Amino acid sequence: MIKKINMNIPTCKAASYPVLIGDDLLKRLTWMPKDYSQIVVITDHKVKKYYADNLVKLLIIKGYKVLLLSFSSGEKYKNIRTKNRLEEQMLKCVCDRNTLILALGGGVVGDLAGFTAATYMRGIAYIQIPTTLLAMVDSSIGGKTGIDTPQGKNLIGAYWQPKAVIADIACLRTLPKKHLINGLIEALKAFLIRDAKSFSYLQNNMDAILQGDVKILGHMVEKAARIKIDVVQKDEKDNHLRAILNFGHTIGHALELVSNYKILHGHAVAYGILVEAKIAELMGILSPKNFLIIEGILNQLHFMSKDLKKWDVNKIIQATTLDKKAKKGMINYILLKDIGAVYQYKNTYAHMVSDKTVKKAFLAISGARSYAR
Ligand code: GLY
Repeated sequence: MIKKINMNIPTCKAASYPVLIGDDLLKRLTWMPKDYSQIVVITDHKVKKYYADNLVKLLIIKGYKVLLLSFSSGEKYKNIRTKNRLEEQMLKCVCDRNTLILALGGGVVGDLAGFTAATYMRGIAYIQIPTTLLAMVDSSIGGKTGIDTPQGKNLIGAYWQPKAVIADIACLRTLPKKHLINGLIEALKAFLIRDAKSFSYLQNNMDAILQGDVKILGHMVEKAARIKIDVVQKDEKDNHLRAILNFGHTIGHALELVSNYKILHGHAVAYGILVEAKIAELMGILSPKNFLIIEGILNQLHFMSKDLKKWDVNKIIQATTLDKKAKKGMINYILLKDIGAVYQYKNTYAHMVSDKTVKKAFLAISGARSYAR
């Protein structure tokens, strides 16, 4: 069964699009629009072998004119050089304004192909086809596109909404467990900030999820996608509410930076959730009981509190100041109030927290040394 959820951006009718979640969508191309002069499939070398070659064959059988472009997989290729190469290849093949890009892959492909679509001939259409759990529950939805620079992640980019998001959950069957957990953390984050019922569903179905049960994963993707869609519809350009999607990410991004991006994004966010939930507990916003529940589920996924010991807390705090979400040198945190709810003051969701409190939370969890109360 295919689930269809509509994204409606109130300020822009053209930016409203369907998010389809279903099994074998890449084999049944019923969602493919007809009215484009050319299709450009952008993917990475790994995904090319798994899905792109087959998709291109099917598109050609259906009569589409198709160009397949791929680049080396990994975050380190999400840069201006790869983007330039893609654009040059498209120009060489005389791709016009009526070209449709299919961004087939994980978050890196989605961000890079989306940004290429945003700037090619001042903006052409694209469809997000996420093949990882992380991309299905988070990065493919909401129109954030961009590339990394030596100064940091996603510092150059654009809001450019796709024409559709096609999440074929069959792709999850071949996804390595490490990457399944990577995406699972973003789903967990979504449930923690907005949906206590889905958090319980995740808790109760953890074994089946880790065994890759596609039916249960599909249900989880739908629930997480609904949360992201609702948030983006209310705040497309990240001016207020969309900040809540950043729960666990202030510390998570800092861990990615100090580990030189060796740690996967979702794994860094898992530790970020631990520290940021502890911050909320120390500030009297989250109950100790709820902190233990969150710690419990993360421990179950092998993100152990004591693992934090291997990082220097001062370096982590320093790295948070480089986050692009920091405003005027002030570091903001999303503070969890309950399982499924964040602390909000008027229309503000991101709150200043002193370095002292962050340090105290970090040391309290890792047990690195006793911390002053
Ligand atoms: N991944 C966070 C956002 O889309 O705003």
